[in-house]
Amino acid sequence: MRIRIPATTANLGCGFDSFGMALGYYNYLDFEEASKASVQIVGHGAKHLPVNAQNLILRAAQAVYDSTNSGSAMLSIIAHNNIPLSRGMGSSSAAIVGGLYAANHVLGQPLSKDKLLLLATEIEGHADNVAPALLGGFIVIVHEGNEQRVKRLALPPSLKSVLAVPDFTVSTKRARFILPQKVMLTDAVYNLSHAAFMVLSLAEGDLHGFGEMLKDRLHQVHRLKLIPGGGAVAQAAQAAGALGCAISGSGPTMIAFYEGEKEQGIAIGEAMRSAFALERIQADIMLVSPDNIGTLVV
Ligand code: HSE
Repeated sequence: MRIRIPATTANLGCGFDSFGMALGYYNYLDFEEASKASVQIVGHGAKHLPVNAQNLILRAAQAVYDSTNSGSAMLSIIAHNNIPLSRGMGSSSAAIVGGLYAANHVLGQPLSKDKLLLLATEIEGHADNVAPALLGGFIVIVHEGNEQRVKRLALPPSLKSVLAVPDFTVSTKRARFILPQKVMLTDAVYNLSHAAFMVLSLAEGDLHGFGEMLKDRLHQVHRLKLIPGGGAVAQAAQAAGALGCAISGSGPTMIAFYEGEKEQGIAIGEAMRSAFALERIQADIMLVSPDNIGTLVV
């Protein structure tokens, strides 16, 4: 059996820890029941990710077995990792969602998607990558005490993204550690109004309105210190015609959006690549459409 799990981008500027979006770029997981648990990794992380019980895919699979009292997860898994690691593109969420989904499939789907999402959030610590990886589309997550509410909007196919993936990593842990615990009321209101405007723009299909809201005063200003050239990359994308640009998740990847022909995306990508190059940073450019499906058996 093979499933595919999309990459994701979280935050989208103003929606820190609240917004996520699935991207049409995928990891694949081949799995079958076996006499013992095993995982083999192909692609990113093949040389250094653990393949014992510490492996994130196996841990997630075991969480499904545990919550259904099904014993040990005896799965043989081959993970085809296309999503780069520690770049803000949801690689760990893809591993978690993949493991959960595979285990649930093997057990005959005892757990609902809501339950899978709760397990995924428990393992990942925040839901803004795992939710779009599982469900696809644009996701808003609200936490109320121990409760988690999720709303989803399908993304218009005309919305396209350009990712500039630099050749260095930033751990989410570090990118969270540097954030101040208190914010100015004016900055909170700035993000609040931008976030609301972004969702309404998407709901109306107003992609310019969406792009203009890819701004933030809560986290990006601090995180750009970990991304040399990141601010210039955003300006370059905008100057080349992007609807807007933000740090993807906790970075260091920068994501810009555009509407229209591929040539436009290529021009935006070149501008982003050149801006990183001024800091002597090499970046891979990826042109990616949104994903409205989420994790899927293929
Ligand atoms: N919302 C999380 C953060 C996403 O920005 O730290 C991590 O990918």
